[in-house]
Amino acid sequence: MSHEQERVKERIAAELDHSRRHSNELTIDALDESELLAQHSPLMSPLVWDLAHIGNYEEQWLLRAAGRRRALRPDIDGLYDAFENPRADRVTLPLLRPDEASEYNARVRREVLDTLESADLSAPSPTTPDRTAPSGPSSLLEAGFVFHMVVQHEFMHGETMLATHQLRRGAPVLLEEAPVSAPVSPPRAREVLVPAGPFTLGTDDDPWSFDNERPARTVDLAAFWIDTTPVTNAAYQEFIGDGGYRNPRWWSRDGWEWRCARDAVAPAFWALEDGRWTRRRFGRREDVPPNEPVQHVSFHESEAYARWAGKRLPTEAEWEKAARYDPATGRSHRFPWGDAEPEPRHADLGRRRLGPAPVDAHPDGASPLGVRQLVGGVWEWTSTTFHGYPGFHAFPYPEYSEVFFDDGYKVLRGGSWATHHTAVRSTFRNWDHPIRRQIFSGFRCARDADRD
Ligand code: AVJ
Ligand code: FE
Repeated sequence: MSHEQERVKERIAAELDHSRRHSNELTIDALDESELLAQHSPLMSPLVWDLAHIGNYEEQWLLRAAGRRRALRPDIDGLYDAFENPRADRVTLPLLRPDEASEYNARVRREVLDTLESADLSAPSPTTPDRTAPSGPSSLLEAGFVFHMVVQHEFMHGETMLATHQLRRGAPVLLEEAPVSAPVSPPRAREVLVPAGPFTLGTDDDPWSFDNERPARTVDLAAFWIDTTPVTNAAYQEFIGDGGYRNPRWWSRDGWEWRCARDAVAPAFWALEDGRWTRRRFGRREDVPPNEPVQHVSFHESEAYARWAGKRLPTEAEWEKAARYDPATGRSHRFPWGDAEPEPRHADLGRRRLGPAPVDAHPDGASPLGVRQLVGGVWEWTSTTFHGYPGFHAFPYPEYSEVFFDDGYKVLRGGSWATHHTAVRSTFRNWDHPIRRQIFSGFRCARDADRD
């Protein structure tokens, strides 16, 4: 086995272990059986569903599909199929109990580590005539693809489980760690001009990329301005104070309809107490901190704020150009700061606190043009409806993203404080309904550059 393959496998084994520790911390280590089985919100699954779903997904992809092993528990596939069972109904299913789920997950994992050891992660020989994929891996195992998919899947559900914790009522159970004393220094300017011209959007060969990030293509954009930080709670409060939620002028038709139906007056979890905005965060009520990015806002709220501010949301191509294009070299990088793996100094990722860092933190993660916090902090709504790129090819299954290409979803970019660093990069695409705000979502604004 090549040295490179050895290295890839060691990384996979380590990340599988991290993801499992994270999943257990949010489930069996944190809550008793009744809370794990409970439905904390109709928007979310009972936590014990996420837990066994993670193991079942891992069994299906790593043991059965990639490892060609006999199924351990084919009888539970239906229960943990996300399409057969809408989230609101999962609480009524005969789910594995927490101890059964955890035992099942451990059993799957033991066999997975076996198959990883003997897996051949090399690319098929280039003479193979039936290479059909236009870009990306041509087999499940190539460059570790399917293992990377499963690691990211577990971490994505970790973030979903955190959203469930945020919706849960009752005494706090997640420990708030001491705030990281990261250097904080405001960017030089509030917005920067991204010059007109072509850049590479998407990827062909990132070994962690999903099908919807491929294929890469050259996109030529007009010049535009983009904010150097996401919109803060302080700025968002000005919108509220100016009657932003009462003026249909700032809202799209769908947005206004949503705001009226919900009677929304502020981001989710906010409340006005004696004239001060407070928020509930993982079971604790506290003042809204002015310098953090606003979070738990819907696409509609983001769009209304941007219009009120005389700006707009960036398109996802604009966002990606800001997040990976280096005007000095013309090259697209994997992250705003370059190609180096994310370290704590670069980005607010990996749940170091139970919320985002101030927007002025992480100067080391700035893009060459000085744009901050593109990766980490809060997921950022873009104005783009989620679709496949030209030449999109579903791999390895259409239910990961292709079935969502139906005009009902907006693209979010950049990951949040709750995202693990393996599950985000500048090409990564997330999506959700424009009304959703239980996710760790915020936004930044952009605007057209004046033409000469
Ligand atoms: C990419 C976050 C939209 O949670 O619905 C989890 C990820 N796909 N299991 C989701 C996913 C399959 C997905 N998002
Ligand atoms: Fe899933």
